[in-house]
Amino acid sequence: MDILSSILTIPEVAGSPVGAEVYRGLTATPKRLSPWLFYDDAGSRLFEAITRLPEYYLTRTERGIFARYGEEILEYAGCASDSALTMIELGAGTAAKTGLLLRAAVHKQGAVHYIPIDVSETALAEAKRKLESEIAGVRVAPRVGDYTGGIAEIRCDEQRRMVLYIGSSIGNFEPEDATNVLCEVRRRLSPGDWLLLGADHVKDRQTLLRAYDDAAGITAEFNKNMLVRINRELGADFNPKLFRHRARWNEPESRIEIYLESVTAQTVRVPALDLEARFAAGETIHTENSYKFTAESIAEIVEPAGFRMERCWTDEHEWFGVYLAVSQ
Ligand code: TRP
Repeated sequence: MDILSSILTIPEVAGSPVGAEVYRGLTATPKRLSPWLFYDDAGSRLFEAITRLPEYYLTRTERGIFARYGEEILEYAGCASDSALTMIELGAGTAAKTGLLLRAAVHKQGAVHYIPIDVSETALAEAKRKLESEIAGVRVAPRVGDYTGGIAEIRCDEQRRMVLYIGSSIGNFEPEDATNVLCEVRRRLSPGDWLLLGADHVKDRQTLLRAYDDAAGITAEFNKNMLVRINRELGADFNPKLFRHRARWNEPESRIEIYLESVTAQTVRVPALDLEARFAAGETIHTENSYKFTAESIAEIVEPAGFRMERCWTDEHEWFGVYLAVSQ
């Protein structure tokens, strides 16, 4: 980069969402970086790989619940040919698991209108192409945007709605924020509309830790991809080999905590932010929390948001719960 363009890029990059987030996070004590930084193209691909890992039981367990109970869930929600539901999914991505529920909905009500909401336009295009070619009777109308913004535009007054928020993404918020997000969702709904929420349960520590620190090292690569991204987008000189992936079970808080730990004392430069970040040996950057729930703790998040909890479906080990709640 020549001098002129580097001068011109400094304020622009520092004022970008990534620049602002990295500046805030690396100057904070203790250091932290926001989880949304995981999901550039490479990060999204690595996350897809995580969902296929033997240790990451979440995806296949939730899928198993949908496969076994999908019809029962829709039946409970009153889905029938003379009372069709519109399905709306928050953070749908490529909607890999949703097909099972959509198939069940088509079976019960003949056809289904499905509105996936996600920030990734490419993921949504893939979801639409795949679902419409594989399931006759599904009409997919994607919305690009963050969840609550996207849901505001949805008008389907003639049909009841079922909002899907699956994959235990609710666990990536602090409990108070989780209730606030669901409150925003509920404000867009009418009484009698449904929320279907996937939530990962508290279980033995080894199973939890292995899901966030797999033997093949894919989760470590996913965590470190954040550093690779900051190098690329902000010209930083993080050496990913000098950081270690760490997963910790915080039992009192009931959450898995993810960190990047500096292997040695080092200084990292971020030219676009005119920043030097010093690390002591063993110092960490906190990158994610993943809360784990019980039936009681999930109700404490859902009910203050203005929903009444109706039912839970789970797997044989009770590792994961799919919760159906109704808007008040
Ligand atoms: N929402 C996922 C979860 O909490 C995200 C995730 C899976 C994740 N593995 C991770 C986030 C490892 C950080 C590090 O399960």
